Amino acid sequence: MEEKKFYITTPIFYANAELHLGHTYSLVLSDVLARYHRFVGDRTFFLTGSDEHGDKIVRAAQKENLGPQAFVNKNVEKAQELLKELGISNDMFIRTSDQEQHWPGATKLWYALERAGDVYKGTYKGLYCVGCEAFITEKELVEGKCPLHDAAPEQIEEENYFFKLSKYAPEIKRLLESGEFKITPRSKANEIISLIASSTAENELGDVSISRPERAIPWGIPVPNDPGQLMYVWCDALSNYLSAIGYGSSNETGFKSLWPADVQVLGKDILRFHALLWPAFLLSAKLPLPKELLVHGFVNSGGKKMSKSLGNVLMPRDFIAEYGRDALRYYLTREVSPVEDWDLTREKFKEVYNANLANGLGNLISRTLKMSEAYFGGVVEGDASRVPALRTKITAFENAGDVSGLNLPYLITNDILPRYHKHMSASEINKGADVVWELIGHLDQFVTDYEPFKLVKTDKDAAKDVIWGLLYGLREIGQMLTPIMPDTAARIAILVGASDIDGGKITFNSKAPVEPLFKRKE
Ligand code: MSP
Repeated sequence: MEEKKFYITTPIFYANAELHLGHTYSLVLSDVLARYHRFVGDRTFFLTGSDEHGDKIVRAAQKENLGPQAFVNKNVEKAQELLKELGISNDMFIRTSDQEQHWPGATKLWYALERAGDVYKGTYKGLYCVGCEAFITEKELVEGKCPLHDAAPEQIEEENYFFKLSKYAPEIKRLLESGEFKITPRSKANEIISLIASSTAENELGDVSISRPERAIPWGIPVPNDPGQLMYVWCDALSNYLSAIGYGSSNETGFKSLWPADVQVLGKDILRFHALLWPAFLLSAKLPLPKELLVHGFVNSGGKKMSKSLGNVLMPRDFIAEYGRDALRYYLTREVSPVEDWDLTREKFKEVYNANLANGLGNLISRTLKMSEAYFGGVVEGDASRVPALRTKITAFENAGDVSGLNLPYLITNDILPRYHKHMSASEINKGADVVWELIGHLDQFVTDYEPFKLVKTDKDAAKDVIWGLLYGLREIGQMLTPIMPDTAARIAILVGASDIDGGKITFNSKAPVEPLFKRKE
């Protein structure tokens, strides 16, 4: 069978400040997907990195009296520490200031656009929002300000290189309509389709500027053969997805085996760059488009997009310190919809933590393992066929008329696992996690049905089969949690101590945790 590859990217983060919980969301969502694909055996490559050029960076560096390179180095170091703290399993971290890895790729892309006859020089006159690092039209302003950054744009008149974006709009529209270029959720694809359909030469679909004079921003990649011009940051930044895997290097084998990306994760604020400019660049360079853009909503705080410029940020480190990184990963995976906006509050976090981690999962783990230890010294031999049938009705099977002999291993194999994989492979990580908690619910119900703590006094063998069923369920939960809560998954595996499976047989050599995995917060 041909090996499946999975190339996933996050946007590269501006190296102008510390990453907050909004950025963390792009990272955790991508990491869960990368870990899932590794878990099922795909040859996975997970890329993240930092966007280090442009106006925004230069200004932020000046405020701290640092040169731009020293300034970005400091922020990148902090970002990389945070990635470790969050357990982000990226295979590579690309930096746009990396002249060896990144610049050749960005330059090669530029040449490709030129070769296609899509680049020409002209004069740009208009408004520029430094927060967006983008030109902005009068129409997009709210009370004279950029609505995302609550700041007035700057009036600019300068000589630029332009790229013929509008030339590729009909093709992009066609590929979006046919689904060959997929955007999830579909509503975001429709947004771009109608934008193209209603476009006129004057709006953002006209030709776009792809360079800035060096005078204006003395920090970026030089335009080939024109030292007075630097590449526009978005042109520089988007090419990271290619340069990181070897595009433009002397040996492009890695690039050829990974491109096109399978999933590119991004927040909705940067949809247009990824759904118009990016595919247009790729079409112009005659490269295949990414298979899917996965566009997530905003993490809000106090009803507004969490952002440094609005001053309403919450920091991931505070949550990790108080609850542990798996709790934060759990929250970002299960408790929010990947495609809608949601508001993060400390109160809600605590409530969910207590209900689903301290109680739900944590409680089930300690109850099961304590019983296993107390009644059987932790050693529980058994096999799937001996687990008694659930007494509760499982609707999914009842509807199919199949309720006889419905034991936990049967339910897990025939209902829980297929649904878990269906959602996870479709990037619906919140629904995948819901299935894990459904199984936690079944196991709780199983304890209620059979009361092993009573059963052990009257029929020890029967109690053993019940405990075996619970341990089997926990083992599966641990596996399903591998992409979502890697530390917890590893702890469950150790605590449960399952032998290899032999037919339906497993011997558990379990031990009860000394401390609860998730301490209740008052
Ligand atoms: N540097 C550009 C991306 C270039 S990709 C070729 C950029 N950087 S960013 O640091 O501003 O944002 C990085 C990611 O974090 C984006 O996906 C963005 O949507 C996400 N988030 C930043 N704040 C956010 C929220 N408050 N909520 C959710 N995600 C948001 O854009």
